[in-house]
Order: sequence, then structure tokens, then C-alpha cells
Amino acid sequence: MKKYKQIIVANWKMKLNVDEATALSAELKDMLAKEPLADKKVVLCPSFLAMHDVANILKNSEISLGAQDAFYEEEGAFTGEVSPASLKELGCDYIIVGHSERRAMGEVDELVGKKAQAVLANNMIPIICVGETLEEYEAGNAKEVLARQVSKTLENLDNKYFILAYEPVWAISTSGSGKTITAAEAIEQIKILKDSIPASLKDFDIVYGGSVKPDTVGDFSKDFKGALVGGASLKAQTFFDLIKNS
Ligand code: 13P
Repeated sequence: MKKYKQIIVANWKMKLNVDEATALSAELKDMLAKEPLADKKVVLCPSFLAMHDVANILKNSEISLGAQDAFYEEEGAFTGEVSPASLKELGCDYIIVGHSERRAMGEVDELVGKKAQAVLANNMIPIICVGETLEEYEAGNAKEVLARQVSKTLENLDNKYFILAYEPVWAISTSGSGKTITAAEAIEQIKILKDSIPASLKDFDIVYGGSVKPDTVGDFSKDFKGALVGGASLKAQTFFDLIKNS
């Protein structure tokens, strides 16, 4: 499963309707069929609503399907939630949990940890997001915040392969800060992330997210296993170039 050099995950957030998501998936599938990038794993995370149609397009392709979130229960009276099992049934292999945009709506480490555990229990790979806010960064608390988020979120996880995504909230293109992190600064946080992962968990990769573009992705690819991409994944040619340059 992990023969690739880089994993590039498109997080389409709430930005594309079903027609747009299916058209973009089909375009990317064509581009990657014409010019296969065999050492890169590409994952598309559409909205829940578009997943069924995108899953059909991605059948018989090397591109994997991902989700932007999932609940931690298997089934029951949980209005509005989506179970990991139903996503698995659809052909989903990866699920983003604890994205900062969800943490900003109230998700805490414990909840994110339960979601990650449920994803693993359903034989999918969680992409577990952590990252400090601008306020925490400017106060010089980034390391402390990351250590807490990583250790608390992962404390009850089974020892199975997972992906940790470091996304400094302030470096996300839509954060409004107007700031981006330098690769050197992001790389500096890898040690604190690794040191905070419980010792029982041995099998993981760390990817970077936050304003990654085709001309910057290469700066991160030596030290990170890949990227979690928002804005630059919304146009086929831009995303294809980013994958190529990773
Ligand atoms: P941008 O690439 O638009 O900064 O978004 C990053 C992100 O939040 C991906 O999950």
C-alpha cells in the first residue's frame, strides 16, 4: 500500500458542487491515465454529496477516494452524521479527521481521536490534522500546542498505519492571515510531532498542508511524505502540476 514516494491529498472542502466535482475527477483521471505518475499516490476528498459519483469515476483508476470527515459510531440515531462503514462501502480508503476548520467549530482532541480510531477499525487510513492557530504561533506556543494535540488525539489509537497532517492554521490560504510558512519552519516542527506520537504507534507518515502550490510543493517533499492541498487542488492542470512537482 505504501510503495509511493509522496501522497498528495486534495481537500475540496465545501467548494465544488456535484457536477464540478465529477468533472474535475474525470479530468484528473484522464490526465493521470495519459501521464501516469506511478510513485505518487493521489487521493481526492470531495463533499459527502459528491462522493458517490466521484467513486464511480475513480473505479479502475489509480486515484483513491477520501472523505473530509466521518463520525465515530457505526450506526444509530445521529442526525446528520456519516458512518465510516458507509464510506468504506462506497470505496473510500482515506478519511480526513480533525481538520482545523472542524476544530474551529468545536471539535476537540478526544473527539478527533475517536473518529481516527473508528476509521482504523473500518480498515481505512485516517489523515489526522493538527496545527497551531495564528495567535498560538505569534505567542510562541506552537510546539506546546502541537505536542498536546498530537499526544491527546493519538492516545487511544490502535497501532495501525495512519497519516498525520501538519497544517498550521495561519498558513492555510483562506485563513485571512496573508502569511505562509517557509518549508524550513515547517520542517522544524517534524521533530516535535514525532516526539509527541505515543511510542506504541510505529507506522505513520507525516504530510504538510497550508498554501501548497505547484512551485512550492517540492520544498516540502524531501522531509514530508506528501501534502494536503486545498485551493491548488481545484483546477485540474494546477493540481496535476503540483502532483508532478512533489
Ligand atoms: P490551502 O491549500 O488552500 O491552503 O488549504 C489547505 C487545507 O486546509 C487543506 O486541508
